[in-house]
Amino acid sequence: MTAPKVVKEIARRYNPRATQCFLHAAIPAADSYRHARTVMTTSLKTTRLAAWDHAYLWHPFTQMQEWEQDMPLIIEKGRGPYLIDTEGRKYLDGTSSIWVNLHGHRHPRLDRALTAQLRNIAHSTLLGLSNPPAIRLARELIRLAPKGLRRVFYSDNGSTAVEVALKMAVQYWQQRQPTAGPKNSFLHLKLAYHGDTVGAVSVGNIELFHARFRALLFPTLQVDPPYCYRCPLGLIYPACRMACIDPLEAIVKTRHRELAGVILEPLVQAAAGMVTAPPGYLTRVRELCTKYNVLLIADEVATGFGRTGKMFACQHEGVTPDLMAVSKGLTGGYMPLAATLTTEKIYGAFLGRYEEWKTFFHGHSYTGNPLGCAVALANIEVFRREKTLTHVRKQASLLARLLRPLAALDHVGDIRQCGFMVGIELVQDRNTGSPYPLERRIGHLVTRACREQGLLLRPLGNILALVPPLSIRPRELTKMVAILHRAIVETTDDRAAPL
Ligand SMILES: Cc1ncc(COP(=O)(O)O)c(C=O)c1O
Repeated sequence: MTAPKVVKEIARRYNPRATQCFLHAAIPAADSYRHARTVMTTSLKTTRLAAWDHAYLWHPFTQMQEWEQDMPLIIEKGRGPYLIDTEGRKYLDGTSSIWVNLHGHRHPRLDRALTAQLRNIAHSTLLGLSNPPAIRLARELIRLAPKGLRRVFYSDNGSTAVEVALKMAVQYWQQRQPTAGPKNSFLHLKLAYHGDTVGAVSVGNIELFHARFRALLFPTLQVDPPYCYRCPLGLIYPACRMACIDPLEAIVKTRHRELAGVILEPLVQAAAGMVTAPPGYLTRVRELCTKYNVLLIADEVATGFGRTGKMFACQHEGVTPDLMAVSKGLTGGYMPLAATLTTEKIYGAFLGRYEEWKTFFHGHSYTGNPLGCAVALANIEVFRREKTLTHVRKQASLLARLLRPLAALDHVGDIRQCGFMVGIELVQDRNTGSPYPLERRIGHLVTRACREQGLLLRPLGNILALVPPLSIRPRELTKMVAILHRAIVETTDDRAAPL
């Protein structure tokens, strides 16, 4: 059967919408045939869902024109480190479902916590009311957080947790020193990613994501990040003596009167490509913030809850930020929930008689959702019972060993690792470090090859991010790295040869 005939046959057997993607002009006949065959061998249930996905959904961070040309992978179930699609195929979850899953999918204790909470109530508001799981979780979070953080303000995703921190910082200074001039700007690192809401984008700096929205953003101060592989100063660590801190110090020193805070992702700039900061960088930023009376905001949305081998990344350097945003791992990957933690000093500046208008006028409908808080409590309990942090540290050493052979590959420029956050930077030329042009989509091609071998990853441009569930066992970790290794070799050697 020729490709168009196959397509017509599918249209007859299934539905026209599912077929449209295979008729698209951009698909070469051979590919069209391959896709068509995929559909022919796919169950009616999957084909129908695929058609409805193409007809009704708009996926995040996705070029939908391209998406509509391809058969979507539809995940229906999960078990441990595996995701299972509607055809029953198993894939290793190499992104922990975008950095949220910790103890694997369908963990019995987390499942039980959710169903038990459902027997009480799914949701009631924290505006003017309270609920037991939200209260208990706040107490637990304060027990786990860097010493000195004493208050928990809930929201429902990483971006809102950051927004809350920014707004708290600005209002804090207004109330703390009402007669001083405005102290409402922020310093952040280039390549930072703090989320997609407008405030979070304002303190972010990923050109591809953020440039279009510049007109909406508030002005900020920015400095180069400590990106040792591509050092903006052209220096080499440790001989550089962390000279990249100097521009940050210069800004804090000269502009502290207007600076409400410095915001950063402690230890790892995740979406930038798992860019790891040298030891001591965070400590130095903390010292500068303290010295110049500027708040330090730690965005632990990606790094929090064991990802780096400690409960929070700040704890590697014994740093207590003034505000700390958490989400992602907070519920072990079960429910959308977030929190902004702060000190008693900041909290205290918001206290007063009602008519002093010091209230923090911010809140979301699902703030402190009892289902989310109940499963977050169970998540913390699993950390204790299963000694998750000890396990991660041990497996992170194994992961480092497994990754070593990849460092020798021709198109691997740099491998960065902090606990269970790994960035593998692919380069066109290892000697010069020259990057692949983004339009070559080398990261995407490698992850497609991984998918064919049963590993799901999502690239960050030319950087492959490997973020396994914390509970993963050595066997599966070894399998993940082996697949990744093969995929890099196959993809860079064949399809990614210089044009
Ligand atoms: C460091 C950091 N902050 C904030 C966010 C935004 O979180 P969310 O996607 O839940 O809004 C992310 C998401 O990847 C992140 O990595």
